[in-house]
Amino acid sequence: MTPPTVVITSPGSPPQAPAMPAAGPLLSGLTTSRAASVSLPLRYMVTGLLFAVFAFGLATAYAQSFVDDVFLTPHLLAATHLAALGWLTMIAMGALYQFVPVVLDVPIFSERLGKAQFYLYLAGVLGLAYEMGSGRLQTVAWPAGLLVLAIGMFLYNMVRTLARVERWPLTGWFILAALTSLGLVVTAGFVLAVNLILGFVPLSQLAFVEAHAHLAALGWLGLLAVGVSYKLTPMFALSHPFNEWRLGRAIFVLLTTGVVGVFVSLLLRLGPVALLACWLVVGAGVGLYAWDYATMLRVRRRRPIDLTQQHNVAGVAGLVLTTLLGLALVLTPAEAAGHSRLQLAYAVMALAGWLGLTTLGQLYKIVPFLVWTHRFAPRMGKEKVPLLKDLFPQRLATAGFVGLLAGLVVAELGVLTGFLPVVQTGFALATAGTAIAATNLIRVVFR
Ligand code: HEM
Repeated sequence: MTPPTVVITSPGSPPQAPAMPAAGPLLSGLTTSRAASVSLPLRYMVTGLLFAVFAFGLATAYAQSFVDDVFLTPHLLAATHLAALGWLTMIAMGALYQFVPVVLDVPIFSERLGKAQFYLYLAGVLGLAYEMGSGRLQTVAWPAGLLVLAIGMFLYNMVRTLARVERWPLTGWFILAALTSLGLVVTAGFVLAVNLILGFVPLSQLAFVEAHAHLAALGWLGLLAVGVSYKLTPMFALSHPFNEWRLGRAIFVLLTTGVVGVFVSLLLRLGPVALLACWLVVGAGVGLYAWDYATMLRVRRRRPIDLTQQHNVAGVAGLVLTTLLGLALVLTPAEAAGHSRLQLAYAVMALAGWLGLTTLGQLYKIVPFLVWTHRFAPRMGKEKVPLLKDLFPQRLATAGFVGLLAGLVVAELGVLTGFLPVVQTGFALATAGTAIAATNLIRVVFR
């Protein structure tokens, strides 16, 4: 029998039923009396899962764009932003609405604002993907404006929330740096969109696009993924003894310095030496982080590597590969044959192989846990309630993970070799794997 654990499921409610079944007590750090109502994070997470399937579906349908050796095509732009904004950023926002109160011990400034922002953000993402996909780049400014408004509301909500924080753990610093990057990313995205009409920026549009994309993937999504893993991995795997500050401080400094350096080097075209130096700083941060992540797993008390950790291990491998592909890109002249393929393989690895796998893995713990505490914890002791692991079919979930992983490996090989049927097969497999994950998790929510 697991010892009783007090879990408070919603603000103001009395302490709830004792003990959670299987794994439950290990995860009680995912919610506290400060947490927002579950409908706030879950709406972002469910929508993000649908976008994940949509993004891979689009990539499968327009796989030709991944072998054409042309950058910035309408379908590539649409698929990139569906993945980055519809899937990853949508889920990241939901996760922050859940985690910031729990990790930093402050309530969300305004849940109502968070709910209103969701609709505006959804409209912005759909509008941006539609305008980009149909090739009407002259009209991307309106959805870009909507996104400025929606992300502005999100950042305002977060800043007002963070202003009350008294103690800053390592994860808090990563969150702060990631939110700062998000503010810059959306500003850069809007300027890019307006510049497509007015052409007023005295910089190369391509340099601007590259700087914007790196700040988004590495600065916003990447710093967030690394920071949140310092809270979730030790909690899920019961890593002990583990001191997050031992290497975490150096990793934070290396990664944030590297991200700023890469952004500035790309934007101002400082040249290959400056870019290489900055990339090596990022690489040092990634290397140390991979080591620290391995330490978290090595000292874990919960021996089985469950589905979440399987996704995360694959995600950290994806991060290391992304860094190596990035290094290869820095060392390859832009006019060399195969440069744009390398660029695409690098982008797919970063968005899907690193950030996508990591995000899905965490959701496999967070969504069932939130639903369980909200729906079943109050019924404990009064009736038979399911265990966490009973909320979705485990074997099907593993099949989905294997499909997604295999699909990504195949798609990467196809992009690197420029062989269309391989890219199509890879993305089709990845779509199927993601569809399984999305169906599993969405069924948990509507169970
Ligand atoms: C996590 C968020 C984001 C990521 C990872 C991201 C990534 C990218 C990438 C990789 C490209 C180049 C695509 C290609 O080569 O086909 C790009 C271009 C672009 N992005 Fe984003 N982006 C993000 C957010 C945004 C936002 C919020 C906006 C608008 C407010 C935006 C507006 C644009 C525009 C207008 C372009 C195209 C510029 C051109 O064609 O010259 N992006 N982005």
